[in-house]
Amino acid sequence: MCGIVGYIGSKDAYPIILNGLKRLEYRGYDSAGICLYNNGKIASKKSKGQISKLEKKISKLKSFSGFMGIGHTRWATHGEPNDNNSHPHSSNSNELHIVHNGIIENYSSLKKELVDKGFVFYTDTDTEVLVNLIEYIQLKEKIKLGEAVQLALNYVVGAYAIAVIDIKKPDEIVVARLGSPLCIGIGDDEYFIGSDVTPFLDHTKNVIYLNDGEMAIIRNHKQTQYRKIKDDSFTNPTVEKLEIDLAKIQKGGFDHFMLKEIYEQPKAVIDTLRGRLKTKSGIIKMSGVDDYIDKFLAANKITIVACGTSWHAGLIAEYMFEKIAKIPVEVEYASEFRYRNPVINKSDIIIAISQSGETADTLAAIKLAKSSGAFVYGICNVVGSTISRETDAGSYTHAGPEIGVASTKAFTTQMTVLYLIAVKLSKSKGVISSKKYREYIYELSSIEKKITKVLGTDNKVKKIANKIKNSTNCLYLGRGYNFPVALEGALKLKEISYIHAEGYPAAEMKHGPIALIDKNMPSIVIATNKLYYDKILSNIQEIKSRKGKIIAIVFEGDKEISKIADETIEVPETIAALTPFVTTIPLQLLAYHIAVKLGKNVDQPRNLAKSVTVE
Ligand code: F6R
Repeated sequence: MCGIVGYIGSKDAYPIILNGLKRLEYRGYDSAGICLYNNGKIASKKSKGQISKLEKKISKLKSFSGFMGIGHTRWATHGEPNDNNSHPHSSNSNELHIVHNGIIENYSSLKKELVDKGFVFYTDTDTEVLVNLIEYIQLKEKIKLGEAVQLALNYVVGAYAIAVIDIKKPDEIVVARLGSPLCIGIGDDEYFIGSDVTPFLDHTKNVIYLNDGEMAIIRNHKQTQYRKIKDDSFTNPTVEKLEIDLAKIQKGGFDHFMLKEIYEQPKAVIDTLRGRLKTKSGIIKMSGVDDYIDKFLAANKITIVACGTSWHAGLIAEYMFEKIAKIPVEVEYASEFRYRNPVINKSDIIIAISQSGETADTLAAIKLAKSSGAFVYGICNVVGSTISRETDAGSYTHAGPEIGVASTKAFTTQMTVLYLIAVKLSKSKGVISSKKYREYIYELSSIEKKITKVLGTDNKVKKIANKIKNSTNCLYLGRGYNFPVALEGALKLKEISYIHAEGYPAAEMKHGPIALIDKNMPSIVIATNKLYYDKILSNIQEIKSRKGKIIAIVFEGDKEISKIADETIEVPETIAALTPFVTTIPLQLLAYHIAVKLGKNVDQPRNLAKSVTVE
């Protein structure tokens, strides 16, 4: 939520910051702003709406340049998205300027104190309070910017990643983080700041990920000082080498990132399996699990914590772990888990799933589990993310950057990692026959080809999207492994097309949702699982007899359901545990095409942000 960017060096900062913000726009797009230092003066421009709007405003200015600057793209928390509440925010003297990602929880009490001291506030934001607190401390204590930022942050309760500049210090940017991500790109006598590495990928591959509770005083042509916020100790962070290349964060000829990412799924699954699945020898190699195998084998229970789509992957894993590895599993929304005093035993394993690796609730759930002595395993996509660092061990999903706000390939690769762990543990625990084990491995090794085949249904799905695009409600039904897929399909539709949709276990329909069925409400039914085939068929009949429309996802060659459904989408047959890989993709495509046909902003749906770093 919110993206921050900064630059200090000898190049023109404006294009660097503007392009950086465009890369971070997935983090929030309620408003944007840039502030540059040039020749003793600060030039600042902000605008409600997307970065393109800000760019238009700035292009009217004759010179908007400088060698140092900060920028922000906002997902509003305090104060409605308007020009005034947009970042950067400035102090009363107009000398300090700040961009901030996070929430200052005690901002109203700090604001009251500052008002009593004569400070005036022009916006509704918590950030304006922070910049004035820094100013107040700087003036009172007569100290340098870095020290004032450090002192101020010690009064603050909440989460932040900030970059601050001071007109009196034209060669310095002070950055700090707690609970929100921040990294520093190290160039040749120049520094880049970003909420993630994408803003500076085309300038440098050397990065320092600032740890939680750390700050840096970045000085042009001088040694950067890295220190803890809480005390005066210095830190010595390692410079890491980035391996992501620029092409991965571009649209590559697709109309939207979401469509590109849907189409990347076969490759993303191969990348996730690479080096882990040795089909010929039948070995699953996962160092994160191998190194802690005793803990996994001794676990009484696995609790999975996650949010949104990652939570849906967790629900599928519940079926996988219990059925394949015979380990009891609970799946919890991280936001609920963290506040309900869960009973956590030392022998429990917590698996935290997060694409971004920055989700605030998931991070808090991890910290809680760790404080109770549980072993925490992370499944993240973003390399170097906070969750990947905070967990005891883990696996990256290797989906590559996911830019579209609606999660697609991250989900598929999370399922891949979870399936690998479940099958691996089933073998280590000796709860699987070698025939079944080989079958599980073989099916996984061929799933990428089946996903590619499902992508071939795109045109058909597009036509179906055209037929149902004006519905105001949709019902998604599935059973077993495909109940979470129904939830995921409904979430995809809701978030990018703003059509209300609900996912249900098919049999639950009779207990309430059936009341909604009429000719205007399509039901999307996942009917691939053989075990439930007849039962789903009956559910479909029940909907049809109430004049409801049926779009069914069935295995290739299906006879029965195809006869009665209004539309069918055929997917290649696979084992039950892997059906979510082939059934999710038509639902992603359906949501995508409906949203495009309705003219919605697919990659940046309203009110959402890719990385939810606030509670
Ligand atoms: C839905 C979506 C969100 C995320 C959720 C968790 O398409 O993207 O529901 O899945 O915000 O995010 P991560 O996985 O980054 O923790």
